[in-house]
Amino acid sequence: MEYLIKQYPLERGALEIQYIEEFFGEFPRKKTADEITGRLRDREFLILMAEAPLPDDPGLVVPVSFKVVHELRADEREPKLRDLIERLRGHVRFEGRKVLYSWIGGTRRDWRGQGQFRALTEESEAWALTSGFHEVVVKTKNRFYDMRGTLDQLEFDVVKYEPHDSDNRESKVYLSKQLSSDVVRGHRSTRTVVYAH
Ligand SMILES: CC(C)(COP(=O)(O)OP(=O)(O)OC[C@H]1O[C@@H](n2cnc3c(N)ncnc32)[C@H](O)[C@@H]1OP(=O)(O)O)[C@@H](O)C(=O)NCCC(=O)NCCS
Repeated sequence: MEYLIKQYPLERGALEIQYIEEFFGEFPRKKTADEITGRLRDREFLILMAEAPLPDDPGLVVPVSFKVVHELRADEREPKLRDLIERLRGHVRFEGRKVLYSWIGGTRRDWRGQGQFRALTEESEAWALTSGFHEVVVKTKNRFYDMRGTLDQLEFDVVKYEPHDSDNRESKVYLSKQLSSDVVRGHRSTRTVVYAH
């Protein structure tokens, strides 16, 4: 199977992400287009979306999976990112290295388990290596079992576990993957990438 991936520029990509997030019932706090543009404006980023045909109308291709990754710097100013940097201190090395943060992503329920998220992740890793990044970091929670299973299959390593005071399901798990040409050579998906304007 060949995966069809669209890479978006900032403004249009932010609107597309806001739109697709409406399809994900499980996230109580969806990201708005403003929030996305605000965070990505002054940094390297990649907004990817996978498209696939509707099973009962194969002529119609719809967005089914998305992923947003961005550069993470040791001297972040935005409070949420400063907080993240503090929590990663001692677990991820920033000095003299480029670190990528896998911020948001997901696959629409009906298209899960078909390799869409692997294809997006592999595309982001290939882009990241070409762009000089050394490592990809991601944060999740104990209770996000689908994502934890997926990150396991994608060979992310746990670098930190942060217990929640009262509910262990809410505990945070930080994972990371070192990028190398071997990682990219090991990719399995065949992808066509088009650039949306
Ligand atoms: C996690 C999620 C993005 C996976 O998307 P997907 O398109 O179904 O993933 P893929 O089909 O590309 O699967 C990639 C790999 O993960 C594995 N995988 C996918 N879902 C899994 C699950 N629930 N449990 C264990 N492994 C899983 C697949 O088997 C595959 O491994 P393989 O390629 O080695 O065979 C999707 O389930 C989702 O959107 N979940 C809700 C979002 C979420 O939990 N967010 C938490 C915020 S961090």
